[in-house]
Amino acid sequence: MRVILAITGASGVVYGVTLLTELLKRECEVYLIISEHAKKVIAHELDIDWRSLAGRATRYYEEDDMAAPIASGSFPVDGMVIAPCSLKTLAAVANGFSHNLIARAAECTLKERRKLILVVRETPLSTISLWNMLKVSMAGGIILPASPAFYHKPNDVCDLVNYVVGKVLSCLGVEHDLFRPWNGFLRNE
Ligand SMILES: Cc1cc2nc3c(=O)[nH]c(=O)nc-3n(C[C@H](O)[C@H](O)[C@H](O)COP(=O)(O)O)c2cc1C
Repeated sequence: MRVILAITGASGVVYGVTLLTELLKRECEVYLIISEHAKKVIAHELDIDWRSLAGRATRYYEEDDMAAPIASGSFPVDGMVIAPCSLKTLAAVANGFSHNLIARAAECTLKERRKLILVVRETPLSTISLWNMLKVSMAGGIILPASPAFYHKPNDVCDLVNYVVGKVLSCLGVEHDLFRPWNGFLRNE
């Protein structure tokens, strides 16, 4: 499987980093873009250098590289994930404002009718952002908020992150065991 992964400057860059690890573990090709703002949030939230992530991807592109292969719909990919997705990038995708490679690759993903998943992170949400999410959804994209569940009884933050990343993998059609699926209440509950 060939996936474009964009990490933008919303809180929760760990979602993008964990997804990169899990996709590579399953021998997926990952075409990675890290926005300039995400580079700063990665340093702040994870205390790592973004270059260590770029080096692990199949290919890495800067957000201003509009000549990259993934800027064209003719480059075959199975899907694209933006994780986490800032409200700014959501707005760009929703309105077809392809000012950088992330928005352009997303535009191509939608126009080619391929899978596009936005792991949006913000709270509370303005009417403008809700409207933008509706627009992306109506255009065929999947809005997958960074909204972990608790029914699988998480032990730590890693379990919460794995829940969201697992939902992304499920949407891509990639098998995983990152969380135990809901199987009804236990007999004594
Ligand atoms: C520490 C930090 C956390 C942020 N968290 C969010 C967030 O959760 N959601 C969001 O939409 N923007 C968040 N922002 C603001 C974005 O980084 C900012 O809107 C930026 O322009 C997004 O650009 P990008 O989409 O090109 O990465 C955060 C900024 C910082 C510095």
